[in-house]
Amino acid sequence: MILIIDRMKFRLLRKGYRKMSHRKFQQHISFLIVLVGCSFGFITNAQINTASSSEKELNLYSARHYQTDELLYSEFTKKTGIKINRIEASDNALFERLKSEGNKSPADVIMLVDASRLWKTENEGLFKPIHSKLLEERIPENLRSKKDNYGSTWFGLTTRARMIVYNKSKVKPSDIDTYEKLANPMNKGLVCTRSGSHPYMLSLIGSMIELRGEKATEEWARGMVSNMARSPKGGDTDQIKSVATGECGVTLTNSYYLARLMKSSKPEDQTMMSNIGFIWPNQQTTGTHINITGAGVAKNAPHPKAALEFMEYLVSDEAQKYFANRNNEWAVVKTVEVENDVLIKLGNFITENVPVEAMAKNQKLAQKILDKVGYR
Ligand SMILES: [Fe+2]
Repeated sequence: MILIIDRMKFRLLRKGYRKMSHRKFQQHISFLIVLVGCSFGFITNAQINTASSSEKELNLYSARHYQTDELLYSEFTKKTGIKINRIEASDNALFERLKSEGNKSPADVIMLVDASRLWKTENEGLFKPIHSKLLEERIPENLRSKKDNYGSTWFGLTTRARMIVYNKSKVKPSDIDTYEKLANPMNKGLVCTRSGSHPYMLSLIGSMIELRGEKATEEWARGMVSNMARSPKGGDTDQIKSVATGECGVTLTNSYYLARLMKSSKPEDQTMMSNIGFIWPNQQTTGTHINITGAGVAKNAPHPKAALEFMEYLVSDEAQKYFANRNNEWAVVKTVEVENDVLIKLGNFITENVPVEAMAKNQKLAQKILDKVGYR
């Protein structure tokens, strides 16, 4: 790399600045900047724009698993002519894949659905820091990675909340209006959740460790295990269904799964919805736990220009509306108007305020606690 830069410098000197056209000189300087930027492992918007003009495809590693996103991607391709090649897997599987691919990874953009996984990916150095005025303007500071001289690594695109859903004939709302109450002996035999080791649960428990300490969290986890109506299994939608049928009295779910069922016109979903109620947990205390979908440019992105273009598209009004109106998540761009009856019906609520870093750092301990108390 140093050799190439030296050769360029030599050429510039030999030709002489005065003898070169202004445009040609700019091109040389831009190329040098790109080379220097790449050699230090960071890129800026200006550099990317000069890096390549023929990037017509993009490799997206995504942990999102929502059919509604198809339209989001096809709209981007329609607008830009950039084709998106998608690799979809769980956060963990993508993380392991990126690690094993190393410098040869074809990933351009990495999209994950859990804040602590974004933090972990950043810590492993799998993202390339970027500077983007647009992303910084559109995304609140607390919903993106800390910025240093090299830029930011990941950017939140949507938020979602972990809420409580209950069977109206089996449970009194006042008995289950906090995460803590779910572990209270009064709710014995009523609680269902997905596996405690799923990222959505680990982030919640990681937050709890931060807010209430290790000992209290262990007691909570033990209480949850002894209150289970059945062993943890299935995803969030399965839990809601089991609450509606009465197999379980109460559960935890990400907000968009409930919203999806609330929107459904299928008679069986409507019957299900008539049996259940929902609660924004911990409104009088620590607030409701929230998580994010976020993305960043991959460290060795072969198409950095297309990657940045895609990242910036994801915070456009159009893309943010897709997230809010089609997958029932909250837009991170606050000026975007929600045109989603269900989100409006879910109303406003107070959110938990735990730094992503703390939530992520506590995950190992969270898993240790789960193993200790037998929370599967
Ligand atoms: Fe999900």
